[in-house]
Formats: sequence, C-alpha cells, structure tokens
Amino acid sequence: MPTEILYHRPALAQRLAKLIMQVAVGSAASSGVFLAAPRRTGKSTFAREDLRPALEAAGAIVLYADLWKDLTKDPGVVIVDAVRETIGRNQGYITRLAKASGMDKVTVGGLSFSLDKIGMGKDIDLTTALTALSDESRQMIVLMIDEAQHAITTDEGVAALFALKAARDELNSSKHHGLRVVCTGSNRDKLAMLRNSKDQAFFGAAMVPFPTLDRDFVEWFCTHVDLPQPLDPANVFVLFQESGYRPELLGAAADEIRFDLMLAPENVPERFAELVRAQAEELNANLKKVIHSLTPIQSAVIRVMSAKGEDYAPFEAPTMELYAKAMQRAGIDPAEIRVEVPGVQQALIALQEKKLVWKASRGVYAVDENVIVDLLRGDGLLEGLY
Ligand SMILES: Nc1ncnc2c1ncn2[C@@H]1O[C@H](COP(=O)(O)OP(=O)(O)OP(=O)(O)O)[C@@H](O)[C@H]1O
Ligand SMILES: [Mg+2]
Repeated sequence: MPTEILYHRPALAQRLAKLIMQVAVGSAASSGVFLAAPRRTGKSTFAREDLRPALEAAGAIVLYADLWKDLTKDPGVVIVDAVRETIGRNQGYITRLAKASGMDKVTVGGLSFSLDKIGMGKDIDLTTALTALSDESRQMIVLMIDEAQHAITTDEGVAALFALKAARDELNSSKHHGLRVVCTGSNRDKLAMLRNSKDQAFFGAAMVPFPTLDRDFVEWFCTHVDLPQPLDPANVFVLFQESGYRPELLGAAADEIRFDLMLAPENVPERFAELVRAQAEELNANLKKVIHSLTPIQSAVIRVMSAKGEDYAPFEAPTMELYAKAMQRAGIDPAEIRVEVPGVQQALIALQEKKLVWKASRGVYAVDENVIVDLLRGDGLLEGLY
C-alpha cells in the first residue's frame, strides 16, 4: 500500500467539522475539542487529509501546528509559527495587522512588516494577530494542534496555551468571527491534563474518543491491495483489530508478500495473517522486555499509575500504600517492603528514561502509552490496585 494512497472518511470529517464550528446551546465546544486515539491509528492523516478540508469547506480558516514534527523546536514556537505563516500568506492580513499594531506606514514607502513581531512577549501578541486575521477574513479560525499534550512539557508551550485561551475568549465574543482550538493526541490521560484543572487553558473542553479506522477501511484495503490472491475482508478485519487498528501493519505485511516471489498464490492469505501477527507481537515483545526488567519499586509505580489513570497522585499516603501492596502482590516479603518518597521519585525518573512514563511541566505524570496499560492489565498485573 503506497503511503500516498489513502482511505478517506468524509462523512466523519463533516460531522466533526460541524461539532467543532457550530456551538449548540450549553455546549462546551467553544472551549475547544480534544480528539484522542492510540498511536499509529491515523489521527494525523485524518486531521490533515479529511478534517482540514472539511473545516475549510464549511468556511473556516485552518491553522495547523504539529508539535511533534520538529522536536528541537519549542511547542510554543510551533504554535506561534502556525499563526505567522497564515498571516504571511495574505497581504490583506499583514496590512490589517500592521495597522492594528500602530504601524500605519506599512503600505507606504515599502516599509516591510516583520512577522517576527508576532509572539508571546513580542510587540504583537497572539490575540492581536488572530483578531486581525478574524476581522480581515470575516471567517472562523480553527487552530488544529497535533500532539497537543507536548505543549504542557515546556514553559513556553504552557504560555502559548494561555495566550490562546485569551485569544479564544476575545474572538468568540460577538464582535469577531470565532476561534476554535482542536487538539489531537495519542493519550487520553495526557490530553486530559490540558483541560482538567481550572487553571489549565482549556478547562471543560470536550474530549471526543476519535473513531479508529473501521470495517470499510479494511474493505477498501482488500480491494486495492492487489496481491496474487485476494484477501477476505472479514478475516483481515479480525487481524486489524488484533493489531490495534494500525494500518501500517497491514501495509507492511502486504509489502512482504509482494516481494516474496516464491510464495504460492493459494498461501497468500495465511502468510498475510502470520506476518501481521508477527509484527504486532514483536512490538509488544519489546515493550514486555522493558517492563520485565524493572526493579520492584519501578514496577509497583508503573502498575499503580496504570491502575489509577487520571487520578494518580504519586506521593499521597494511599498511593504509597498501593505501591507496597503492588510489591507484595509481586511476591516480595512484606517484612522487606519499605516505600519512601525518595525511592518513588527515583523510580519515576527511571521510568521516564525508559519512556514508560511521561511528565508534564508541573510534575504531573501519566503512563506514556495506553498499550502499556493494556499489556499490564492483560497480564493481570493491575488486579487489586484500583
Ligand atoms: N486513512 C488512511 N488510509 C490509509 N493509510 C492510512 C490512513 N490513515 C493512516 N494511515 C497510515 O497509518 C500510518 C499512521 O498514520 P498517522 O501518522 O496518521 O497516525 P497517528 O495516529 O497520527 O500516529 P502517531 O501516533 O505516530 O502520531 C501511516 O503510515 C499512514 O500512512
Ligand atoms: Mg500523529
């Protein structure tokens, strides 16, 4: 399956676009919408290829910031760049913004207006920039932030979110044409941190579990895959579910079959199933290896964190008791168990280094990926820890 060939979901995109743009009475959609789905299931592809065009067709200007595209760039800078880029695309926006910021001379004498002036702590803040864009275009602005959780790992990212909150409140007043912020990410717990506490920028925003690719996608895949022997969509759908709804695993298995010149056509479906399963297992096996090499306290910490999810509070007394319980369940002699704050702190650092745990800028933690939780639960390692 060449990567440029995509299965589109226009109906889903239109429904979401409506949800995002039209605010129903009593709806929190104007606070922003959060879309969460596991890793490698097609979130970014959908956001760029389906949702963005649907929003544009519905009359919005769409700004897109991918916080993972360049990890050397601060998330706050990426968000500001998305705004600069859109403004820079149109002379009308630039002129309006230059005037709004007191640079009347922009149109005379070729004095050029620098987009560098836009940003947090710069001459022109995000609210001013987005307001100019809104007033000039008379369109609703939708800012899509991919991997939005990354914003709360740096101070500048957090500042950008607060700046956006201010901009959103201004643009959603009756004087302008509205600003919606759509955040996507692979981990619900992490995304939830952007909207859970009152001091977070998107308090109360709607969390939408983003639908994974479905049976129709598998039908489409089987029709277009073009192997020496056709695949049965019903069987492939089972494989697709087993492997976590990740299109790449199907694509890679098909590639291997294409290059296997010795394979008899009648054996294609069976070989395909083998290849998909083998890849899914390999991914999990690597993760399991890491999990099984943890020290007792590290293991206890990740298990309790997995069990508690959003409610996880690392150093509270009941949590400390749960760590002890987790260690006991792992077969450690109760007389030898001693759980203390420095030990937990160290375990948290080690788990971060192993990429099992993720830390937001304010010392809030989450399990890095939902598969980790699923694996632990599947192995019965979360029992009794809720
Ligand atoms: N609609 C689709 N049709 C065909 N292939 C797809 C589709 N959506 C995604 N894919 C393929 O699946 C893979 C993952 O897609 P994508 O990067 O969009 O997922 P993601 O959920 O954003 O991943 P990540 O968690 O890494 O951000 C890509 O190789 C992409 O080509
Ligand atoms: Mg993505």
